[in-house]
Amino acid sequence: MSPRSMKRLRRLRATPLLRGLVRETRLGADDLVWPLFVGEGLGERLAIESLPGQYRHSLDSLLRACEEAVAVGVRAACLFGVPLAKDAQGTGGWREDGVVQQALRALRSRGFPLVLTADTCLCQYTDTGHCGVVHDGRVDNDLTLPVLARTAVAQVEAGADLVVPSDMMDGRVAVIRRALDEAGHAQAGILAHAVKYASAYYGPFRAAVDSAPAFGDRRTHQMDPANVREALRSARRDVEEGADIVMVKPALAYLDVVRAVREAVDVPVAAYAVSGEYAMIEAAGRDGLVDRDAVMMESLLSMKRAGASMIFTYHAVDAARRLRQETA
Ligand code: PBG
Ligand code: ZN
Repeated sequence: MSPRSMKRLRRLRATPLLRGLVRETRLGADDLVWPLFVGEGLGERLAIESLPGQYRHSLDSLLRACEEAVAVGVRAACLFGVPLAKDAQGTGGWREDGVVQQALRALRSRGFPLVLTADTCLCQYTDTGHCGVVHDGRVDNDLTLPVLARTAVAQVEAGADLVVPSDMMDGRVAVIRRALDEAGHAQAGILAHAVKYASAYYGPFRAAVDSAPAFGDRRTHQMDPANVREALRSARRDVEEGADIVMVKPALAYLDVVRAVREAVDVPVAAYAVSGEYAMIEAAGRDGLVDRDAVMMESLLSMKRAGASMIFTYHAVDAARRLRQETA
């Protein structure tokens, strides 16, 4: 290599008109998916204490939030429901008048140019806070599968383009795919949480939706943070079962896994910058310890660089706004 070549590259990068030519990674508003919480029966939105700047939405405030997202170029949202009542079977997840179904119909009828996705899991709807149906004190994989399938079909019938199973039960992608096809929804996609670690970074989320398990933890179905080869198996299995996109979650502490999964499968990879990642950036920024906007953008860019095609992030709207300013 010529001794001056790095210097020439730095000069290109410093020249605004040429910078784009030598940039290896790009972040765009259309890479971002905004997770949104919608609370059943709410008259107005409620601030979520554990996620400053995020809300448990009413139907009205959800529509306004989506208008805001569209206005800054965000193209996708993922809905999480917070029901009024929970039960052993998580029926609030699939009832036709369930909170997510209501929200999807409201958004669809307004014709927002948004890809609508919905979290497909039972933990917000079960009285145990577990991601599946509990039997004899344990989450029962096979009792859970039909409930998940029913939830996915209900979400698609209410207007979801993609369902996002986050439960990590074995075999659920195949069961959901079959149920969707049999119900005549071959066009609906599955974005599977293929690689989901048993992570402390989910803390603020569980407070937000009130889904901390009443007993035990999620270690029987979420992955050990020490393992990456297990992640590849799980991603390949989900693709074989019919996943159209696979998710790695959390994101920032698992960028090596994002990269490895991207190389192991040929479907798009999504990364989920989870609640704890968001909360840390917000807290450190608020206390003046870091430049919040810069850290937010650098973190998202790193996920793209690692190989994510899309990023689920509570920062979606703020980051999109920031991208507009940068290009203006
Ligand atoms: C559960 C679920 C979790 C998140 C989304 N769906 C976490 C959990 O296992 O409790 C976490 C999202 C976040 O932390 O932002 N199905
Ligand atoms: Zn769950």
